Amino acid sequence: MTRKNSIKWLICTLIGMGMLLSPGLGVAEQDKGREKMTLTGGKSGPVDFNHHLHQTVIEDCQTCHKDFPQKEGALDAAKKAGELKKKQVMNKTCVKCHRARKKAGEKSGPVSCKVCHKK
Ligand code: HEC
Ligand code: HEC
Ligand code: HEC
Repeated sequence: MTRKNSIKWLICTLIGMGMLLSPGLGVAEQDKGREKMTLTGGKSGPVDFNHHLHQTVIEDCQTCHKDFPQKEGALDAAKKAGELKKKQVMNKTCVKCHRARKKAGEKSGPVSCKVCHKK
């Protein structure tokens, strides 16, 4: 092999390897956060929340994360900063969806205080 040919061969090999690897590199792993968590529920008591279960039934992360970023503690921080009213996420996101789905006869979550809030 001439020097020129071997450089060509090397370049082709590198491009080939790149094409094999690129699909894996293209799809960056999305950080889905904790599987389960306990949310602050004030005087009514904490709320156990299955995060990953909701990710399987709700396609758009923004359904919830429009109100607070994908960061641990972000919900409490937004309420503390006055960016979110108390019970705003509960009423406008959680209960609103559960109620609408129940009404439509679809698989849904709890709408009564004591099922969500555990003392
Ligand atoms: C039904 C509401 C809801 C949906 C839908 C949702 N999340 Fe979350 N997510 C939350 C709550 C609540 C928190 C906790 C925030 C806090 O700690 O204050 C959270 C926190 C997070 C965090 C921070 C780490 C952690 O575990 O607290 C990440 C990352 C995250 N979510 C990613 C996602 C992604 C990616 C999707 C879509 C595939 C998604 N979330 C869909 C409600 C939701
Ligand atoms: C689907 C679950 C769910 C149901 C049903 C529910 N809550 Fe909540 N509640 C939450 C979540 C999540 C939070 C925290 C987010 C927020 O404040 O919006 C919360 C927050 C609260 C808070 C604390 C607000 C604060 O920051 O001090 C109170 C008080 C409360 N709920 C009372 C109630 C009462 C009373 C009912 C019944 C009429 C009820 N909740 C029904 C999930 C629920
Ligand atoms: C866009 C719709 C939607 C939103 C928003 C939503 N949920 Fe749900 N939730 C569901 C559905 C659908 C189920 C039933 C899932 C199943 O059983 O497969 C469910 C189930 C639940 C359950 C019972 C199952 C379990 O995890 O033990 C709880 C508790 C719950 N949701 C709490 C919440 C809280 C708290 C929020 C707000 C932070 C919330 N949900 C936001 C649709 C929603």
